[in-house]
Amino acid sequence: MKTSNSPSFSGTATAVACSNIAFIKYWGNRDAALRLPANGSLSMNLDSLTTRTTVRFDPRLEADVLILNGESAAEEARRRVSDFLEIVRRMAGMPTKARVESENNFPMGAGIASSASAFAALSLAASAAAGLLLDEAALSRLARRGSGSACRSVPGGFVEWQAGQGDEDSYARSIAPPEHWPLTDCVAIISRAHKQTGSSAGHALADTSPLHPARLRQADENLRRCRQAILRRDFEALAAVTELDCHLMHAVMMTSSPPLLYWQPGTLAVMQAVRAWRKEGLPVLYTIDAGANVHVICERAAEQQVAQRLRQIPQVRDVLVAHPGGAARLESAGESSGYNVNSQT
Ligand code: PMV
Repeated sequence: MKTSNSPSFSGTATAVACSNIAFIKYWGNRDAALRLPANGSLSMNLDSLTTRTTVRFDPRLEADVLILNGESAAEEARRRVSDFLEIVRRMAGMPTKARVESENNFPMGAGIASSASAFAALSLAASAAAGLLLDEAALSRLARRGSGSACRSVPGGFVEWQAGQGDEDSYARSIAPPEHWPLTDCVAIISRAHKQTGSSAGHALADTSPLHPARLRQADENLRRCRQAILRRDFEALAAVTELDCHLMHAVMMTSSPPLLYWQPGTLAVMQAVRAWRKEGLPVLYTIDAGANVHVICERAAEQQVAQRLRQIPQVRDVLVAHPGGAARLESAGESSGYNVNSQT
């Protein structure tokens, strides 16, 4: 068997990872290069929003190749993946370039962030193809280097990313499996447009907001309240702390310099509708990432009613439905990768 130190090494592996939605958000870095977050965060994996990625190290390649949904990717995306593969190559002690083929099962350009599922799948496929045997914590740390929120898509179910002191202890772990709480995320698509300011650039602006320190002061307490609400399956408590932290993060975004204003009229229409439905007694809450779309989360029993009501709001173009998802998983690993598929389920 070839080892990853061989110059003609040609391992291959395919991995699948879910996207995730954060109840307590990651916004701002203490260390941008290492993507060490300003605060801990907590999310739920989304089973039907996945990325499948195959990595093939090929000694004949002079540069890394990135194919996204069957098409050659833009140079900026290729460079980001190539920089990430450089970390994997350093860990494995090998120079070989790779061909990366990645597909999202959710519509590209739906305005749904794919960096979490993309870098979680890439971390698992690339490390397995390079013959590295990483445990879940090491894999989560590696995924963090590609996109912070990707570290939360490595473990399964409900997942907490501890901010940590440094690179070694800043990784995510599961606090409850997917079946712990049958929640549904009905993603209300308001805009399919590509966001103007991506999250990597956005994190760098957090420090310019006068509200950032205020949000960070209560981050640990909000994280604790959220963890407790999930462990106790207390929907009302989860709604209160999730919407509070969503508002806090967007207040930081809106007051940074330059300001980031992601909401559109349709975003606000959904927020107000959800609050009214909850008053009527429906177990439903909202949260919003760096975009205009609204994640409307409800208990499974209310799923059909919530999705139907959302579709009646004129600005809602589509509704994607997802349930709590599992951990990133390996689909196959070529013999030359030296990777035992069964060791990473
Ligand atoms: O992982 P990034 O750099 O794409 O940042 C994600 C930021 C938010 O989606 C807004 C919040 C979060 O915790 O997912």
